[in-house]
Parts: sequence; structure tokens; C-alpha cells
Amino acid sequence: MAKLKLGVLISGRGSNLQSLIDACAAPDFPAEIVLVVSNKADAYGLERASQAAIPTKVVEKTDYQNRDDFDAALNDALESAGVELVCLAGFMLLLQDAFVTKWHNKLINIHPSLLPAFRGLHIHERVIEAGVRITGCTVHYVRPEVDDGPIIIQAAVPVHPDDTPDTLGERVLESEHKIYPEAVRLIAMGKAKPDGDVVTLGEKTELFESLINPIVK
Ligand code: GAR
Repeated sequence: MAKLKLGVLISGRGSNLQSLIDACAAPDFPAEIVLVVSNKADAYGLERASQAAIPTKVVEKTDYQNRDDFDAALNDALESAGVELVCLAGFMLLLQDAFVTKWHNKLINIHPSLLPAFRGLHIHERVIEAGVRITGCTVHYVRPEVDDGPIIIQAAVPVHPDDTPDTLGERVLESEHKIYPEAVRLIAMGKAKPDGDVVTLGEKTELFESLINPIVK
């Protein structure tokens, strides 16, 4: 079966990109990364992509007259590479409505909270301040509103009493690295289909269940 062609958009470290690179290295994984685009020339994720022999492109806002031209360049890069699913992986730039509409149901994001709770930035600080006991991470289809859209998969992560934003962030990141490849796998296998505001799942694996509830075995 032909593999689903992924385009991954990054802005920095690229640890989620790495989790996708590692998953795609398995011969039976149903997707492959055909392009990594960064809006920052110094993003470490670009090195990760090069080490895996994946084509990269830098599209920086400052190189374009306006936001529409930037979005057009981004779109052209993805289309010319034959991308079928765009994966935002720490891409810290809000995408304009036209781009989101163009890639409707072909654009997914990973976010370090249990959406719809804690949208936006500084998530782990805000989770600790709110006294939340369980947080997590979410992969979702992207809609024009920030951190909004049909949820594909989530993982629950306990908040420990002595957590700092950094220790909590590290624990959440471990789960991010499990759910992003799993979300891509489900989509590529046709097992996670957006149906209005929700996603219909055609499969719930042991991994899926263990991610949702890591506390009660
Ligand atoms: C990840 O924690 C990701 O969930 C978050 O940025 C980090 C990127 O790390 N994304 C967002 O907050 C999007 N709203 P990475 O570059 O190591 O993958």
C-alpha cells in the first residue's frame, strides 16, 4: 500500500518531529515524511531531518512582503513535495484561516494539554497554578481558532505535587512522542475520520487505552 506523504512544520527543537522520523523508519509504518519546513533557520529540528535524509526547507516570515506571500510560499513547498497530511510539530506561528481552510482535514497539530483545557502558551505553568491533578496532550485536526479542532487522540499525564513546569513538561513530552505517531498511523490506515466536530475511530488498541488512562491499570 502506498504510504501517506507527510509534511512536518517545525519552529525549534523538533523532538516530536523525531518521534515521527523514528516511527516512519519502521518498514510497516503507513506514512513517510517527504518534507520538513521550518519558519526558523536555526531550528534544531532541521538537523534531525537532514540526519534522516529528509528534504528540508526554511520559509521565514522576514523574507516575504506580507503574511499572504509567506503562506503562499509555505503552501507551494508542501504542494510541490506532494504532501497529503501536514503535521504541526511545535510550529509556533498561527496559521491564517485561508491556509487552514485549504488543508481542511489534512492538517493536524500536537498540543501539550488535554484540550479543550489550556489552549495557548505557558501551559505547564498554568496547569500547576490551577492545581490540576491530571493533564496530558492532544493531537487534533486544525481549525481556524487557536488550538481548536476535532480530537484524534489524547494521553493523560498525572501532575505530581512537587512538579515544576519543566519536570511536568518533560513528562508530558514523553506522552506526546507516543501519541503523535499513533495519530498519524490511525489517519494513514483510514481509522481516524473527522465527522463534524468529532473524530470517529475505527480502532482502539491497547496502546490507545493505556495512553488515555495511565493510572488505573
Ligand atoms: C511541544 O510540547 C508541542 O506540544 C508544543 O510545542 C512543543 C514543541 O516541542 N506545541 C504547542 O504548544 C502548540 N500549541 P518539539 O519542538 O520538541 O516537538
